[in-house]
Amino acid sequence: MPVSHAQSLDAVRARIDAGLDASVDALLELLRIPSVSTDPAYRGETARAAMWVAARLAAAGFTAEAVPTPGHPIVLATHPGPRGAPHLLYYGHYDVQPADPLDLWTSPPFEPVIVDGPHGPRIVARGACDDKGQIMTFIEALAAWRAEHGSLPARVTVLIEGEEESGGPSLGPFLEAHREALRADVCIISDTGMWDVDTPAITTMLRGLLYIEATLHGPSHDLHSGMYGGAVVNPNNALARILGELHDADRRVAIPGFYDQVREPDERQKAQWEALGFDDAAFLASAGLTVGMGERGRSVLERTWSRPTCDVNGMWGGYTGAGAKTVIPAQASAKISCRLVADQDPKVIEKALLGFLDARTPPGCRWTFRHFGGEAAVRVASDSPWIAAASGALEAVYGSPARLIGTGGSIPVVGSLKRLLGIETLLVGFGLDDDRVHSPNEKFERICFERGIHAHAALLAALAAPMSDRAT
Ligand code: BES
Ligand code: MN
Ligand code: MN
Repeated sequence: MPVSHAQSLDAVRARIDAGLDASVDALLELLRIPSVSTDPAYRGETARAAMWVAARLAAAGFTAEAVPTPGHPIVLATHPGPRGAPHLLYYGHYDVQPADPLDLWTSPPFEPVIVDGPHGPRIVARGACDDKGQIMTFIEALAAWRAEHGSLPARVTVLIEGEEESGGPSLGPFLEAHREALRADVCIISDTGMWDVDTPAITTMLRGLLYIEATLHGPSHDLHSGMYGGAVVNPNNALARILGELHDADRRVAIPGFYDQVREPDERQKAQWEALGFDDAAFLASAGLTVGMGERGRSVLERTWSRPTCDVNGMWGGYTGAGAKTVIPAQASAKISCRLVADQDPKVIEKALLGFLDARTPPGCRWTFRHFGGEAAVRVASDSPWIAAASGALEAVYGSPARLIGTGGSIPVVGSLKRLLGIETLLVGFGLDDDRVHSPNEKFERICFERGIHAHAALLAALAAPMSDRAT
């Protein structure tokens, strides 16, 4: 890192510390806005969150705008940098998952509270970690740098979208329409996890996702199960049997061709994962379990990082209200998703899945499908100069080197940036396995938030050093 940036960073560090309480207050304010992107009832609130983020960036010295789209607004903010310095693109999302089931929250999801835990105070609210707390780590770091020095050491563009959690359609066209403004040297995302509370991580593998809804139609209308039961097809029974066939006795996915493109990790990769010393028991405990379940003979890391899955995310049909109703339903439905790895093509897998279901259509029945899109898995080159620069910066903040990890989750923009703009992404996240993202009582550790802001200041200094400095 050039000497000048190292010195600049010291002053920024002090400013971050002095402003920490204000940064937490700002995050709490953002968490109070229920920006649930998938539910039209929250459309106004979702737009309000976009305005809030744009205003925060404007106050930090950016030219910022909440750009309307057919869906939710996309926040786009720009700040110039010195000639010769790289152009950094920061991405995140201000939308959150629905808070349901509400009765499992110990405090209201959009009334953030700070409670004590084993790592000190933690912030409990929907979006605390995913992704509001995490976008605030870089927003606060950029703001502190700008306030301290009146400038930034690199040209910076910030893109915060509002449809990440709902797989919305607006981002792709937006990326294409703003190609020139977004053509950065690297994209930085904080929407993943750390290795543990004291150990930073850089994620180099994300799984892809394919999502469909399948409905099996049988009788023309719901029937009395005494008059018809046993003599006609029951779509609920039939669908349950078909879904049960999705996995074999070794819990491998039984869809023909499903594993054709799946490669085994090489020995070096396996050795690196082994050396990480993953704590299976702690991972299971974060889910309230003591035993794991998945493809026979594979570790938790293999199962979640390098193997594809097929999961039923929801199923319904017939009577699900209070009490008992004797009915043969006219139809039964399931939401089915596949997490994809490496070279699996979402289109090919979708075809294979539909073919699997079609081949099992019971006599007298027919299917209808809804398609919620697909994204291939992404791998980031783990030997890039960006990763090297980021590793050094993270080690300086945490006193322990960053682990290179995979994740089972998906972040669609990473693939889109690569495909549409040719941009590599650096995934540096601050979540923990037990943050309960998408679940009731989601939380973000205050210490992860604080050190995340410091990490971003150090990252900015390291990434801003032009490539020529870095090589020496
Ligand atoms: N931040 C998550 C992705 C993630 C989850 C990364 C866990 C690391 C660990 C992101 O907001 C998310 O939930 N993505 C969705 C994508 C989908 C809605 C297209 C996912 O993975 O289900
Ligand atoms: Mn997220
Ligand atoms: Mn999410």
